Amino acid sequence: MYPLRRNRRLRQSDAIRSLVRQTHISPNDFLVPLFVVEGSGVKEEITSMPNYYRYSLDLLKKEVKELWSLGLKSVLLFVKVPDNLKDNSGTEALNTEGLMQRAIKTVKETVPEMLIMTDVALDPYSVYGHDGIVSEGSIVNDDTNAILAEMALSHAKAGADFVAPSDMMDGRIFEIRSLLEDEGFHDTGIMSYSAKYASAFYGPFRDALDSAPVDQQDIPKDKQTYQMDPANRKEAIRETLMDVQEGADIVMVKPGLCYLDIVRDVRNAVDVPVAVYQVSGEYAMLKAAAEKGWLDHNAVMMEQVTAIKRAGADIIASYFAKDVVKLIM
Ligand code: PBG
Repeated sequence: MYPLRRNRRLRQSDAIRSLVRQTHISPNDFLVPLFVVEGSGVKEEITSMPNYYRYSLDLLKKEVKELWSLGLKSVLLFVKVPDNLKDNSGTEALNTEGLMQRAIKTVKETVPEMLIMTDVALDPYSVYGHDGIVSEGSIVNDDTNAILAEMALSHAKAGADFVAPSDMMDGRIFEIRSLLEDEGFHDTGIMSYSAKYASAFYGPFRDALDSAPVDQQDIPKDKQTYQMDPANRKEAIRETLMDVQEGADIVMVKPGLCYLDIVRDVRNAVDVPVAVYQVSGEYAMLKAAAEKGWLDHNAVMMEQVTAIKRAGADIIASYFAKDVVKLIM
């Protein structure tokens, strides 16, 4: 029979395609990760993340102004901590004059309307490169939570709008929420890395912060006892529902592209905003392939962020944010 339906009718021209398009990308979708270092006049390219930089506070100001002018209104701060300030108990993480605390103030002073989210985890501060306290070959859960809560409070006091615990300890959202409430920080939000997998895609990020787990006897060489097994699906829902119950305002799935089934599951399971982190390894892969001329950088980048949003992301944390916005402006 002659087809009554011809699906190609809706694909004939740009006009009809844009009329029926279901997923749109705008600057409002993005959360921009920023790496901060000590010093002044520093803008260092991260070797495994071409065209992505660590900034000292003075140049961070310039970057933040540029982001704001591009319509990028939310940043996620990470700090590279000098080796001599690292220990096994996150001492420097609680320093009211620490780099993170100063970075928060710097961004607030420079662009007061910018939404500031901060990374809460011990790895940049850990001599062992772990997200928690290490004792007798394991990562201690509850003692770590107490420090994470203090760390979150310290960020809130410095002016963070949201804290973003990326550590995957059990029960940390409750600990953080409780302390923030006790101390009167009712409006400080929590974006929880809820379904964070023990992924090999974090390599370039660990280069950026010099935060990889150390190769040392009796120290776990990877994060598999706290980050999730990439083979598991249902566990992502359990983790996420618990975080919502404990007080998370926003939940996150991480990494992005390899985990879009999880993004859709989580999107269907919760009624809070879902963030997706398109991580450093995802960024590095495309940059490398594009450098070789093997992939069309901008086309693949747009396809990837569109796929992440189509899968159910309300928020995309991405190193491509600026590239995307410049392209679609
Ligand atoms: C650590 C943290 C990691 C990332 C964000 N926070 C790395 C890790 O868990 O080892 C990775 C982000 C990226 O790869 O872009 N708390």
